[in-house]
Amino acid sequence: MMAIDLKGIVSRRKFMTGAAAFLGALGAAFAAVPFIKAMSPTKDILAAGVQEVDISTLREGELRTIIWRKQPVFILRRTPAMIEEASLISPATLADPAAPDERAVDPGLFVSIGICTHLGCIPQFRKAVPETGVAGFYCPCHGGKYDSIGRRLGGPPPENLRLLPYRVEGQTLILGTERFGGYGENVRKIQDLPAI
Ligand code: FES
Repeated sequence: MMAIDLKGIVSRRKFMTGAAAFLGALGAAFAAVPFIKAMSPTKDILAAGVQEVDISTLREGELRTIIWRKQPVFILRRTPAMIEEASLISPATLADPAAPDERAVDPGLFVSIGICTHLGCIPQFRKAVPETGVAGFYCPCHGGKYDSIGRRLGGPPPENLRLLPYRVEGQTLILGTERFGGYGENVRKIQDLPAI
């Protein structure tokens, strides 16, 4: 009778089982790659928070409201008169003091989140904000008043309209850049960026 090599069968079985387990694990690892890839933010996803806006047709005195990260954003091309009248307001008299250059490095362009800092209504642009006479934003909900660089002038809002990161390249406004390039070094800016 032929001798059966049990040792050989057992080690072959062990090898086959081990190989199957190894191949299974390898397959699972390969299958997981696209999943893991999908879980990691891709360049596209990271870039999704950045939005380009053509401002070449924005006229002096015109306000454009766009949606960025599900929030309204004001883009105002300020006139020389708006710039001048805002420069006459002493920051020391404001509840949320800020000098004009802290609100807009290029005085001719003001960009902010278009949400009232009181209870979240969307302020309206007015050539003369009631009870102030200056151009700016008026919140119809409870009478919040802001000047043309979004500084709180009166009413219940506790602070100025919030700023957001942007930079300008030629006639393109780029919102949501990593740098807060639109402002001076010490400008206060929104701390919690809205979710993408
Ligand atoms: S929500 Fe704007 S003043 Fe109240």
